[in-house]
Amino acid sequence: MCGIIAYTGHQQAAPILIDGLRRLEYRGYDSAGISVVSRKKVRTWKASGKIAVLESRLPESINANCGIGHTRWATHGAPTDENAHPHNSADETLTIVHNGIIENVDALKARLGDVEYQSETDSEVLAHLLSHTMDLNNCSLVDAMREVLTRIVGTYGIAAISSAESEKIILARSGSPVIIGIGEGEMLAASDMSALSRYTREVVHLDDGEVAELTPDGFAVTKLDASPADKSSMTLVNNLEDYDRGGYDHYLYREIVDQPDTVRRTISGRLDKRFNTAHLGGLNMDPRDLLQVQRIKILGCGSALYAGMSGASMIESLSRIPCDAEPAAEFRYRNPVIEANTLYIVVSQSGETFDTLAATREIQRKGGFVLGIVNSVGSTIAREVDGGIYMHAGPEVSVASTKAFTAMLSVFALLAILFGRARDVSPQRGAQLLKALEDAPDKIADVLALETHIASIANKHAKCHSAFFIGRTAAFTVALEGAQKLKEISYIHAEAYPASELKHGPLALVTSKTPCVVILPESELLEKSLGTLEEIKARSAPVIAVTDSDNSRIDKLADDVIRVPRSDELVQGMIMGVALQIYAYHSAVALGRDVDQPRNLAKSVTVE
Ligand code: AGP
Repeated sequence: MCGIIAYTGHQQAAPILIDGLRRLEYRGYDSAGISVVSRKKVRTWKASGKIAVLESRLPESINANCGIGHTRWATHGAPTDENAHPHNSADETLTIVHNGIIENVDALKARLGDVEYQSETDSEVLAHLLSHTMDLNNCSLVDAMREVLTRIVGTYGIAAISSAESEKIILARSGSPVIIGIGEGEMLAASDMSALSRYTREVVHLDDGEVAELTPDGFAVTKLDASPADKSSMTLVNNLEDYDRGGYDHYLYREIVDQPDTVRRTISGRLDKRFNTAHLGGLNMDPRDLLQVQRIKILGCGSALYAGMSGASMIESLSRIPCDAEPAAEFRYRNPVIEANTLYIVVSQSGETFDTLAATREIQRKGGFVLGIVNSVGSTIAREVDGGIYMHAGPEVSVASTKAFTAMLSVFALLAILFGRARDVSPQRGAQLLKALEDAPDKIADVLALETHIASIANKHAKCHSAFFIGRTAAFTVALEGAQKLKEISYIHAEAYPASELKHGPLALVTSKTPCVVILPESELLEKSLGTLEEIKARSAPVIAVTDSDNSRIDKLADDVIRVPRSDELVQGMIMGVALQIYAYHSAVALGRDVDQPRNLAKSVTVE
């Protein structure tokens, strides 16, 4: 979603705003802009396209100590210069940036009467409403903000400045993250901690319905009724270098090769060798609570959903508790039955995905207990769930999720062991499972060592129009994420199918021009899956087998084989998934795609 940055203090604002926008560019990159206030005047520069285009339009020096900036992921209005934020009031004495959607924009415009709008966006109406309210009530910007927000229907993360209050920044939040960064003689704000980590380690998260007033000397947070909000600060856990590319061509590549360490960090301190189970501190559930769980429902979006589907398979297989996953985005619209003995688990790397947050709130509204598996410490979902497990994957900057996805699978493996050992899994089997998790980082490193081989296969098929990813039972969830990775960074049309489904329709699309990636874990189902290979070969389609089996029939039937190290079924998906990430990465590179910022996408979708 969109990125917001704001600064007021003793330094020049413009360089800090541009640096912050660069760190936020992965959140949305259709257009960008900054506004500053100096000598009682608001000045604004903005441009469609990447931040480099905006920079090319800035004057040599901009003498101002207070300003706001924005990178946009278009929701209302095309990515043009006019639709870029910030948006000014008619007299250009006030300017705002906004992340979210204003649903009653038409009613608000009707109420404002004849205003000449410069853009097609919903956000611009905020600038006019604030300016109109300040004039009408002869009030401060913060009072005008509180008044205007009582009329807004929708979601927002807002930063506003006015020439009448030259060093003040007014912030507001409902549904889209806004974080205050506390400095020495300076204050910042951003929609993501990555933009603050260069300037401060101390942050305060705004909650929904809160308004903040920043000056260089401090901040004050109130609710919409102007009553003070009780806020506490927290220390950032990630360092600035965690957000760098580490000398690689792409963030995505760094995040793929970081995965052995990612898994080590995720499981660190969570393997209980005494009782051969997992130790998860933040669940807020005691053993009796675990025993009461009769069903588990997992919810997430995109790759987080696919991780949840894989996790459901792990948990049900080990614990014999019925467990399934479904899209968070649909959940609240089906008026779900929430059950007392069902444990609800939401999964989100950013902890800000609106649909996943809305599902969380719907479950809690009906009395359900929700655990969160989240990467971003202190994020909204992390703060609202009833208990949770942080992934400790470190910042994931590339829009396509890789190391966070693998961290999610690692957390689900821990949960599966925990629930399994609370039921029928023996201590011996528990010890095997813990060892499988401990060995997983080295096996992922072995897969990374296959990069040249995998890249050669990817280059062979990079020009294909469509590709299929096929897997049976748990391997189908691996196929889903493999197809997701390929489509979102290479733009090749890719679909995943359960192996048994192919003959019921999709096989009609399989030709010599549609490579089929077949996930073949060593298991009692392998022979059945080899039958699927025969079906595909009979249609002359190129077959790429991803397997940890030594079965020689695979080598006879497949055109290419990516053989990964054999592993326990608990971690097979995690290990094979890395091979598919490498395949997608090299397909995208071969096609010259914008690997870290694929078209139309954004890292965290904080709107419906
Ligand atoms: C995955 O590659 C995508 N970036 C996307 O599907 C993502 O997983 C989804 O938007 C959910 O994001 P979250 O994990 O931050 O909630």
